[in-house]
Amino acid sequence: MLEDIKTLLDEISSYSIQNEEELEEYRLEFLSRNGKVQTMFKQLGQVPKEERAAVGKAMNEAKNTAQTIFDEAKAALEKQVTRNLSAKDDLSLTPPEMPLGSLHPLTQTLNEMKQIFYRLGFTIAHGPEIEDDFHNFTALNFPPNHPARDEQDTFFIRKSDDPKVDDLVLRTHTSPVQIRLMENQKPPIRSIMPGRVYRNEAVSPKSYFLFHQVEALYVDENVSVADLKETLITFVKLMFGSDVKYRLRPGFFPFTEPSLEMDIWWDQGGNSKGKWLEILGAGMVDPNVFDAAGIDSEKYTGFAWGMGVERIAILRHEIDDIRTFYDNDIRFLEQFT
Ligand code: DAH
Repeated sequence: MLEDIKTLLDEISSYSIQNEEELEEYRLEFLSRNGKVQTMFKQLGQVPKEERAAVGKAMNEAKNTAQTIFDEAKAALEKQVTRNLSAKDDLSLTPPEMPLGSLHPLTQTLNEMKQIFYRLGFTIAHGPEIEDDFHNFTALNFPPNHPARDEQDTFFIRKSDDPKVDDLVLRTHTSPVQIRLMENQKPPIRSIMPGRVYRNEAVSPKSYFLFHQVEALYVDENVSVADLKETLITFVKLMFGSDVKYRLRPGFFPFTEPSLEMDIWWDQGGNSKGKWLEILGAGMVDPNVFDAAGIDSEKYTGFAWGMGVERIAILRHEIDDIRTFYDNDIRFLEQFT
């Protein structure tokens, strides 16, 4: 037995430990629960009584040696790591500047819009980007052959010949979220619904097949056109400053009656280059829409709008090509840090 212990000790002391991996291999080989040192102790029972004291002592010494070698090797490796570091890097140097990212200009604009509507008492709601025909069109009072339902304008996910199976589309506006909100919540409702929308349009500086809207819906007893105007004017003053030049024009949408549109004057550096830019459509919720969503149209009235986030970002930052929002060109994005 004493011979075996000596052999093990030789093995232990000649084991090469040059790096972290070898240190771990050493630990597994000798010091772990199933390692050679523990296995050795298990044989102590078979040693004749009169030899047991001496063998036990030798085993303990072997164990201590194995542990000391491990501890020393570990300490040496740790020291090496620090030494390697200080050889390469001067820790007293100021660190190199790290490039800092920034929020995308659309995110920044959307965040500001949300802040304003929080202040005005609106909550936030979301809906799916893949919509069924019912929520995107029918419940919003679009007639069956309205041009927006055409494949020229809408991306269809599923077009069905079976009248019992609804078509699926990429939502063309955030208005369907109004319907989902009214299906799930009773008035008073006062929410904004931001999100992406999709249209099958040719890409140009002025249009892209994807953009963002912020929908709003306010439903309660006695909501009036005056409330709508007041809210919109408050919003544009907070967003663009109290000297903003705006105008409200009559408009038409299937889901509101009456409807209006709002433009903001974009002076484009003055000298007669300025123009009006439409930022939103709005109106009083059509009673047909309330009926489709299960709201009592005798008792409640409401206003709604859908505003374009890109349009508002364009006005705020004087951007003349909508595609730059989607190019992910770092030189463009860095201007908004
Ligand atoms: N959904 C319309 C669009 O995408 C915008 C809109 C107009 C939304 C009037 C409304 C509204 O809620 O009342 O062009």
